[in-house]
Amino acid sequence: MAGPEPVIPARDAPMGRDVRLKGVHGTVGLPIPGTPPLLEVQKLVKRYDRGVVAVDDVSFQIAAGESLGLVGESGSGKSTISRLVCRLIDASEGQILFDGQSIGDQPSRSFHASPVRKDIQIVFQDPTESLNPRFSAFECVAHPLRRLLNMKDGAALTARVRECATRTGLPLDLLERFPHQLSGGQKARVGIARAIACRPRLLILDEPTAALDVSVQAIILQLLDGLRRQDGLSLLFVSHDLNVVRMMCERIVVLRLGRIVEIGSNDTIFREAQDPYTRALIDAVLNISDPRQN
Ligand SMILES: Nc1ncnc2c1ncn2[C@@H]1O[C@H](COP(=O)(O)OP(=O)(O)OP(=O)(O)O)[C@@H](O)[C@H]1O
Ligand SMILES: [Mg+2]
Repeated sequence: MAGPEPVIPARDAPMGRDVRLKGVHGTVGLPIPGTPPLLEVQKLVKRYDRGVVAVDDVSFQIAAGESLGLVGESGSGKSTISRLVCRLIDASEGQILFDGQSIGDQPSRSFHASPVRKDIQIVFQDPTESLNPRFSAFECVAHPLRRLLNMKDGAALTARVRECATRTGLPLDLLERFPHQLSGGQKARVGIARAIACRPRLLILDEPTAALDVSVQAIILQLLDGLRRQDGLSLLFVSHDLNVVRMMCERIVVLRLGRIVEIGSNDTIFREAQDPYTRALIDAVLNISDPRQN
């Protein structure tokens, strides 16, 4: 979906196309030699029924504190990889290691009992679909705390939910509302508050702003970048939009038909991409950014 170039507004700056958040492309998260990556995916394959190979021999790593972008056209396997990594679905082949420990062998239906379940959280593309319509915003955020951290109802649980709401800019008086009583941007904040509630180490963002208006997109991207920096989170940031990934990530994986066609640092991909498919994605971004090139 083509749209105007999203921007991340500086906190006190007025919205504008050329306003950028300084430091997004820092060296945060580059692997420290000798330390294992936080996430390592090796030769991952996912075959669905009727011979659909959605993910085909995919390998990549994410260091602690690093933000890795996953881009590709619709159907290239981005969501399937996201679901495999957070263990909502089982791989057909390959390994997933988290903090050096294999998590890919454990069946997805029992992964909720794994001690690392709380460390890997996901924000889904469509906040409306991913929030339980029968849960208030408070309940949406409290649910993983009860289930994964075994927190009981009481002052500590309430304080944690309120802290997450505050960190994601959700007014506290909205916590009693149900999803249908919230705007798209407010629902997105609930989805992010829920994902950070257990203080994960890896946050998977599957097109977290695709359903949002451009101005709200920019605010949510700013929010995510701030959370990441404050908490030293690692991100797997999925988007079909290379511009968004360029702003949010240090390295980029380009996927096509379930396979990696290119992987490299943000700057390298934009300057030196070899693959014609990657070049086409970049050219599309540049043409959208600068209408004079059209
Ligand atoms: N449950 C499923 N059963 C069968 N095929 C599936 C299933 N889920 C996804 N697929 C197929 O796997 C491929 C990859 O789908 P996936 O949702 O991972 O793509 P995507 O890159 O996230 O696309 P989009 O940008 O549209 O969200 C597609 O061909 C899709 O039709
Ligand atoms: Mg998808």
